[in-house]
Amino acid sequence: MATDFTKYIASVPDYPEKGIMFRDISPLMADGQAFHDATDEIVTYAKGKGVEMVVGPEARGFIVGCPVAYDMGIGFAPARKQGKLPRETVKATYDLEYGTSALYMHKDAIKPGQKVLVTDDLLATGGTIGATIQLVEDLGGIVVGTAFLIELSDLHGRDKLKGYDIFSLMKY
Ligand code: PRP
Ligand code: ADE
Repeated sequence: MATDFTKYIASVPDYPEKGIMFRDISPLMADGQAFHDATDEIVTYAKGKGVEMVVGPEARGFIVGCPVAYDMGIGFAPARKQGKLPRETVKATYDLEYGTSALYMHKDAIKPGQKVLVTDDLLATGGTIGATIQLVEDLGGIVVGTAFLIELSDLHGRDKLKGYDIFSLMKY
């Protein structure tokens, strides 16, 4: 029988501010079997897409993407917040609820033509993953898939990702 991963997600009302239902993946990560099984599901998806490299945004995109890359025997490249990468970078800005933010990748993080899987823990408005996709494409990579543990359907992140394949393990 398929695993019900939702029982490993803690739903916390009014965090980090009133009106937000925070979906906390910590219990899933803390359970070795659930973390393993969730990773396996994304690996199976990625293998079907011929993925050659995994990219994830700081910070929770690392948690999801690194074990996938390790399992597949391929590389992982981080998309990081300002001031974290020591060499030459490319930058992509994205909208937050109030104002904007930015993500950066090293210029040599992706080889032109490389098939990339972009991972994160959660798809909400799609701003974070949209910026990550832009970075990969600016570097000449081909985004062949995106994978999330959780998709918040009401926030319509999918609409921002038209033309990209999306895999999500759980929907709220
Ligand atoms: C959270 C989450 C996703 C993003 C989703 O990250 O881990 O990356 O928000 O929201 P979006 O689809 O509306 O962009 P956050 O910016 O809180 O950073 P963190 O992972 O460092 O906590
Ligand atoms: N990132 C954006 N929205 C979130 C939510 N509701 N829960 C956890 N992480 C988030």
